Amino acid sequence: MAKIKTRSGNKTLVATVASTKTGSERRDFLYIATGAAAAVGTGLAAWPFIDSMNPSADVLSVSTVEFDASLMQPGQRVTVKWRGIPIFIDYRTSAQIENARADDAAILKDPERDDERVQRTELLVVIGLCTHLGCIPLGQSRGDSLGEWGGWFCPCHGSHYDTSGRIRKGPAPKNLAIPPYTLLPNGKILIG
Ligand code: FES
Repeated sequence: MAKIKTRSGNKTLVATVASTKTGSERRDFLYIATGAAAAVGTGLAAWPFIDSMNPSADVLSVSTVEFDASLMQPGQRVTVKWRGIPIFIDYRTSAQIENARADDAAILKDPERDDERVQRTELLVVIGLCTHLGCIPLGQSRGDSLGEWGGWFCPCHGSHYDTSGRIRKGPAPKNLAIPPYTLLPNGKILIG
């Protein structure tokens, strides 16, 4: 178990990360709320589209989350809650990066190179909402289906995302979106 500090407005939140390890496969699961109440979604929960949420100015002013990714290991995935939205942080393995980059030239529904989707090669940060109807894709918890491309799988209507979060199969029209974030010194990520 590891403790992680986050900042929400003038509050400091401390969250505990529960680690599980099976062979080389690690899946860590963490939700950090930006408000007082943390709502933890499940795989099939429907979330509203981000564009329709229209948060008020006072909510926006306190809606950044700082996450210390220096505690992560290759193969770990963490979910951080930001403005009520799940943010997937994926510390990718070299194999996952190779797979993503090998498919840069593939026929993609929403063409983007892998290096256009990351600020640091191993750290993929995406909004964890399927771009079809807003379900939360599977892939963040141990034992989840990762889909045919080893990234995430949305079982609502069968969308498969690759290790760059790009849509590869199914009805979702777009890649998993990239939230605004800044990489800070010492491995921290400021989301928002
Ligand atoms: S909401 Fe993900 S496939 Fe429909």
